[in-house]
Amino acid sequence: MPETPEKTAGALLPLVIVSHALPAEWLGLLDGRCRLLVGPETTVTSGLAPALQARLGEAEGLFTLLTVPVNDALLDQAPRLRVVSNMAVGVDNVDLAACTRRGIPVGHTPGVLTEATADLALALLLAVARRLPEASRDARLGRWTTWRPAGWLGADLAGATLGIVGMGKIGTAVAERAGVFGLRLVYTSRQSRPELEETLGAVRLPLPELLHQSDFVTLHVPLTAETRGLIGEAALRTMKRTAVLLNTARGPVVDSGALYRALREGWIAAAGLDVTDPEPLPADHPLYTLDNCLILPHIGSATHNTRRRMAELACQNLLAGLAGRPLPHCANPQVLT
Ligand code: NAP
Ligand code: GLV
Repeated sequence: MPETPEKTAGALLPLVIVSHALPAEWLGLLDGRCRLLVGPETTVTSGLAPALQARLGEAEGLFTLLTVPVNDALLDQAPRLRVVSNMAVGVDNVDLAACTRRGIPVGHTPGVLTEATADLALALLLAVARRLPEASRDARLGRWTTWRPAGWLGADLAGATLGIVGMGKIGTAVAERAGVFGLRLVYTSRQSRPELEETLGAVRLPLPELLHQSDFVTLHVPLTAETRGLIGEAALRTMKRTAVLLNTARGPVVDSGALYRALREGWIAAAGLDVTDPEPLPADHPLYTLDNCLILPHIGSATHNTRRRMAELACQNLLAGLAGRPLPHCANPQVLT
């Protein structure tokens, strides 16, 4: 994987490994400021391509996607590393403690993807509630033979209760959108959000009570030791049999096996998943066999503008780290103390 000539011109510039190829203009901020060694557009397995791994010893900066595990094994090969910049808000692929121990700040991209991801959560909610994939498939297959009064019936939004698990930036943006559809809002977060209780009428509940009351449950927590498996068999059995589960957070927040049984055996009505466990979800995974499960390939932030802005923010974090300045968005701020 050769470095491009214009990038090699400044021999003293720091070497930055970019795990995957991105549109060149997204990385424009790095031009002339570092030597870039860029990986392939996709890798079949997670992690860095072997040609990049071989150069880790020289790298001073590392630009990663959320599919790249940044752990002790990788960091041990990169003694000169001064910054990791993850082009995602979620940093569950990065061992933050290991980076902090080595004094390496980790950049991430909060905020710029909030609106796009909230839009996608609402898109999933509407598509699952109104059974769009099944209806569209039936039309294509010639099963639309007449207007059926009792065909393709879905769920109403107005007057239904939406449970938001994790009232952070994306959860809040979902709450703001949900009001327009007449959804009643309940939420769970470790800290209360009195301003949202005031402006949107959102009611804070413990998780079991939220699951018990909600017609739609939408997940917006980060993946942490505390949230891994948060929605398992007990949680799914607490939900209404008519309820819909939406996950645009991280796949492992939900126990996939329990979800499959819940959907097949009718503990809940349906699910919409932008994220799965594992990712990618293999084509022969049983969840794909279920009509009441809509699965997307992790596209929450996938709009032209949002992905470009994420890349730009990741470049800004990277450049700040190389210059020894505080990162605009640092996921392990304790590294500075
Ligand atoms: P954020 O602003 O940090 O919000 C996360 C919220 O989760 C926080 O406000 C936190 O509030 C709450 N939380 C954390 N642990 C919790 C727990 N155990 N129980 C209940 N609430 C908890 O982050 P964000 O920007 O909204 O992003 C959220 C996550 O969405 C990211 O970490 C990422 O994994 C995922 N994401 C996915 C996509 C996609 O493409 N599908 C795109 C962007 C982000 P408290 O501290 O008050 O609990
Ligand atoms: C996407 O999933 C992100 O965390 O940015």
